[in-house]
Amino acid sequence: MQPSINQVLLQIALDLSTSLPSGHHYQRLIAALNRVLPCEASALFVFDEMGFLQPVAVSGLSEEVLGKKFLPDNHPRLKAILGCTTPLRFPSTSELPDPFDGFLKDDPNSSIDVHDCMGCSLYVEDNLVGVLTLDAMKVGAFDQIDDITVETFAALAAATIRNITMVEALKRSNKKHQNINKLLIEEARTKGGQLVGVSLEIQRLRDNIKMVAHSNYAVLISGETGTGKELVAHELHAQSQRSDKPMVYVNCAALPESIAESELFGHVKGAFTGANSHRAGKFELADSGTIFLDEIGELPLLLQAKLLRVIQQGEVQRVGADKNLFIDVRIIAATNRDLELEVSEGRFRSDLFHRLNVFPIHVPPLRERKGDIAVLTGHILDKVKLQFNINTLHVHPRSLQYLEEQKWVGNVRELEHTLMRAALRSIQDQQAVITEEHLGVSGMVIKGVSSATDDMPDQPIVMREAVERYQKQLIEHGLKKSGGIWSKAADFLKMDRGNLYKMGKKLGVKP
Ligand SMILES: Nc1ncnc2c1ncn2[C@@H]1O[C@H](COP(=O)(O)OP(=O)(O)OP(=O)(O)O)[C@@H](O)[C@H]1O
Ligand SMILES: [Mg+2]
Repeated sequence: MQPSINQVLLQIALDLSTSLPSGHHYQRLIAALNRVLPCEASALFVFDEMGFLQPVAVSGLSEEVLGKKFLPDNHPRLKAILGCTTPLRFPSTSELPDPFDGFLKDDPNSSIDVHDCMGCSLYVEDNLVGVLTLDAMKVGAFDQIDDITVETFAALAAATIRNITMVEALKRSNKKHQNINKLLIEEARTKGGQLVGVSLEIQRLRDNIKMVAHSNYAVLISGETGTGKELVAHELHAQSQRSDKPMVYVNCAALPESIAESELFGHVKGAFTGANSHRAGKFELADSGTIFLDEIGELPLLLQAKLLRVIQQGEVQRVGADKNLFIDVRIIAATNRDLELEVSEGRFRSDLFHRLNVFPIHVPPLRERKGDIAVLTGHILDKVKLQFNINTLHVHPRSLQYLEEQKWVGNVRELEHTLMRAALRSIQDQQAVITEEHLGVSGMVIKGVSSATDDMPDQPIVMREAVERYQKQLIEHGLKKSGGIWSKAADFLKMDRGNLYKMGKKLGVKP
């Protein structure tokens, strides 16, 4: 039974909201048209970016047509149709050549010079996007079809073109974003840098990284400031099976309490004043990859509870949402605090600590790594050479000895900054060798140390506490001399400002 026009139109309308393999939408539209309109040949054309009409679906015509392009100027019938905004009918006596002459599927040799022919231009929001053409061998075949029927088909064809064009543009943009993401992930992977060192401690560290990287275990990296915890986190991710996915960085110390929950877990539009749109949190962004919770020891207790829930359930709830989202995230956390001590003093939840501490990795301080200072010095100077485009730059053996004797409370970062400053001075002096002078080995430091030796204890004491007390006194003294300005105190104590500030905060110094 012949379907009614309404049934056919309904089917086309339904197709508009259905995903079909590419090209199928057009072909189904033409097939539907043929079911209700009496024609031997029909074609749907879409303009390409060069201004050619490209057939995207045909019926009753040789498939060869699909490989051809039609320039309207060379095809007067197509040109005439394009010139009208309503359906255009050609008289059967029209002398204008037909673009499909010789392409009839059933009878390629026959000419369609005496026939009924009509067409309609296709518009998407005032833009001419294509043409629909119908040919019938029987004269008068189209007399019964009113313009509104053809216009309805044309409108649905235009909507189909619009849909497909939009989907294709979205696919292209998605592909582009995927490529950019891939590039950024690769870049981030190389940015992590190389874990340099020859000491037994560094070798053990590398073994540990290798052992746990492939698993999905949570890793808690501990170690003093500047020891390379972030580098270890990058290395863990790079060696994991998730290395082609992002590692999302969260600095727990820099999360303002008011927006922390939304930063981590996202929010829905209207969840709070200023939440103008839906937003994914860091956990969602890290889905199928890794989340690196740096400075985890600084996370407020309230957020610790929320984080624990996410880790336990493997689900996040955006602020203001009523549904949970499943996430698959590998957790790496780092801290320079003694988390066990923090737990015993009630500042860190013990249940969260145990969840994070599945595989602990401790990064030893630089002063405990025999032989690393020399190789790190070489590595850092290589970076300086590259940066300043110079060929030779060394440290004098006495300078190296000096470097090896230092305590490096700021660890590799402090060594890095010290060497960079010294390198700058030597470059300024046009010297290829870094001397103690460039290192700023000043009488003040030595004087400071010797005055401490005047005050040696008679009774046993905890060395770390005594050193920290002295460090605190020095920082307070430095600040006093510098009018409470940290950057000046850092200059005075010949330390990196960031490291000094961190150390001061840790030791409870109040400016
Ligand atoms: N083994 C290493 N080889 C090469 N560079 C290193 C090494 N360890 C640390 N560094 C460099 O030292 C600097 C500090 O490292 P990183 O930021 O990883 O330290 P951290 O332990 O995270 O410090 P903080 O606790 O202060 O955040 C970085 O520039 C890093 O590249
Ligand atoms: Mg760090």
